[in-house]
Amino acid sequence: MSELNKRTLLRAGGALLAASAIDMTLVKLAFGQENYEDFTFAYISDSHLQQIKGTKFVRNWDRGLERAVAEANLLNPKPDFVVYGGDLAQLGKREEIDHGLEILSALKHDIKFVMGEHDYYLDLGEYWADKVSKHFYSWDHKGVHFITLKSILVDENWINKWSSPAERMGVMAGLDDPRGSPFMVGAAQRKWLADDLAKVSNDTPIVVFSHSPLQKIFKNWNFWTDDAELIQDMLQPFNKVTVFYGHVHQIQYNQIGNITFHSVMGTSWPWPYPETYAQAKSYLPKLTVPMNRADPFHERDATGWQYIDVHSGKATINFSLPDNKPRMIAYDPELGHPVDTQFSKITTPPQHHY
Ligand SMILES: [Fe+2]
Ligand SMILES: [Fe+2]
Repeated sequence: MSELNKRTLLRAGGALLAASAIDMTLVKLAFGQENYEDFTFAYISDSHLQQIKGTKFVRNWDRGLERAVAEANLLNPKPDFVVYGGDLAQLGKREEIDHGLEILSALKHDIKFVMGEHDYYLDLGEYWADKVSKHFYSWDHKGVHFITLKSILVDENWINKWSSPAERMGVMAGLDDPRGSPFMVGAAQRKWLADDLAKVSNDTPIVVFSHSPLQKIFKNWNFWTDDAELIQDMLQPFNKVTVFYGHVHQIQYNQIGNITFHSVMGTSWPWPYPETYAQAKSYLPKLTVPMNRADPFHERDATGWQYIDVHSGKATINFSLPDNKPRMIAYDPELGHPVDTQFSKITTPPQHHY
């Protein structure tokens, strides 16, 4: 996005910008090649709308999503579509999903949905499939192949061992509940993915959306997908692959072989970086430079908005963070991975939590 357009947008959204953080992601795909037309899409994720009783919902989570929708409607250039990255609901309830759809109905753009574990583990996605979206699917848009995966599946035995769906949902809703189970894409969906990719040429840019990271970061919090390596192997033959994921509620980025990974932030709250809290070993991507803080008690920390500009299939992301210094993560073609060019020069050390 040009500086002019950024300024136009900032002017257009000035009243809202002054008030609060904006929890969304704008993605610009600018492949700079013949046959490819530049376009943008926006990304909103992890709103965790929670019903208190009847029509009463947790207000802060509502407001995060409402702001993102309002900002998405002001975007200039207009995004071709919006991706919702999962965890729309907190406990998978119909009321929560309906409430989310009602807020999202104010969007003036088409929307594509990714399934989060909080949307799934009450009724195993039945209501979602009925009212919201298919659980996984692909589509082509202006020369790019987009794939949405349901990465939050677990072993069937685990799914069936609980005395009630609500108990199962409650266990899975905890970040660090040891009774949970590791996520996976699973064999059936991997087969679907293989068939889907068989129709795509190696030169076609591929963008994959998952909820959990398709890389292994920290198992205890399910910043993890058990069959991540198998999915990565399927994507490696393609020349331009970018994976975006939600779930972690913080900025992460990584490069594994040919695949560039980027997280998006949530509209609800930040999770801390695993290495600041975990007693167990974390595999936080080596490339990721943690923000000064990602503090769950600092409500709007690790939230904000970002422009993502993808040149030749590689992303340059400009993060605008009201409670933190701005950051830019750009793909360095010489190094062959994304680099946090500005933030890595900031000398303030990360804040550690105990
Ligand atoms: Fe989440
Ligand atoms: Fe999640």
